[in-house]
Amino acid sequence: METQNKKRIFSAVKPTGALTLGSYAGALKNWIAMQDEYDCVYCVADMHSITVRLLPADFRRNTLDVLAMYLALGINPEKCTLFVQSHVPAHAELAWILNCNTLFGEAKRMTQFKEKSKQDPDNVNVGLFDYPVLMAADILLYQAELVPVGQDQKQHVELARNIAQRFNGRYSPTFVLPEPVIPKCGAKICGLQNPTGKMSKSEDNQNNCVYLADDPDTVMRKFKSAVTDSDTCIKFDCAKKPGISNLLTVYSTFAGVSISDAEKEFCGCGYADFKKRVGEAVVEFLRPVQAECKKLAADKAYLQAVMKTGAEKAAREARKTLSKVYRKVGFVLPE
Ligand code: TYM
Repeated sequence: METQNKKRIFSAVKPTGALTLGSYAGALKNWIAMQDEYDCVYCVADMHSITVRLLPADFRRNTLDVLAMYLALGINPEKCTLFVQSHVPAHAELAWILNCNTLFGEAKRMTQFKEKSKQDPDNVNVGLFDYPVLMAADILLYQAELVPVGQDQKQHVELARNIAQRFNGRYSPTFVLPEPVIPKCGAKICGLQNPTGKMSKSEDNQNNCVYLADDPDTVMRKFKSAVTDSDTCIKFDCAKKPGISNLLTVYSTFAGVSISDAEKEFCGCGYADFKKRVGEAVVEFLRPVQAECKKLAADKAYLQAVMKTGAEKAAREARKTLSKVYRKVGFVLPE
């Protein structure tokens, strides 16, 4: 496949749980749209997942399910490099070198670290703190120019850029400086019960989050119980009407219409009917995806083949950057 002259893209999702409507809206929708125009490297970031405690058997299944879901959504392994992070050791190797070029103070400022430390104060491990540096290694290894992510990952991509800039200044130009690509619509899908907070994979309140693998009845039940407001008007206004605005964003993403067209479509419609129709749009989007995902998840040999080919391709690219970095920092290279 012709990749020359195409801009390189990198992105990943961590398989801590099943993918959500947010994972698709904030990241995967753009990944799929960018496949033809860019040289895309997409990864299942399993090493990032173990900052939280997971049962190994569940974790292993999640990793394969996330890979199957990527494929079912339309990520094409013929067009892009698709692999599992722990299959390419260069990620951990570069992360160590970047650790030595990242200031404690800048890592400590990361909003997600502060939030996650509060959420689980008994497990504030060094990996959680170092997580954005591993993410920088992921991106910089592939000399990615663009990183399609949701709003919550923007700060991490900016840190990767700062680390790259510092390294380039210290050792001479080595890394391409990456930029985040944030979708105009869907950069932050919020919870259905708490429409000011991000919809997240690891929810205690299951009604707050819709998973891409949820069956139609579950999807409909969750949307029907979504929090709205005491008004009656379906209008996009994040500050005054967070619940309705979030539902309009979900509808726009999954029905493929603009927010203003959605507002027109639902003008005069009651909230109960609106929530039902948003749920139906999601169910219709998910129906073929889930059928394909089920087939793929059952075909372990195919998933293994995709992972193997992808890891080999990724490792070749990663090795080029890592060798350069080893030389620049002054490691004696074996003959
Ligand atoms: P993760 O697994 O938390 O999320 C994966 C992607 O989905 C986006 N996202 C959302 N977007 C909109 N609304 C939401 N509710 C929502 N929830 C998740 C995230 O912004 C992200 O783009 N650290 C990353 C994974 C990673 C990575 C990387 C990303 C590892 N290495 C290198 C980019 C580049 C993460 O935890 O994403």
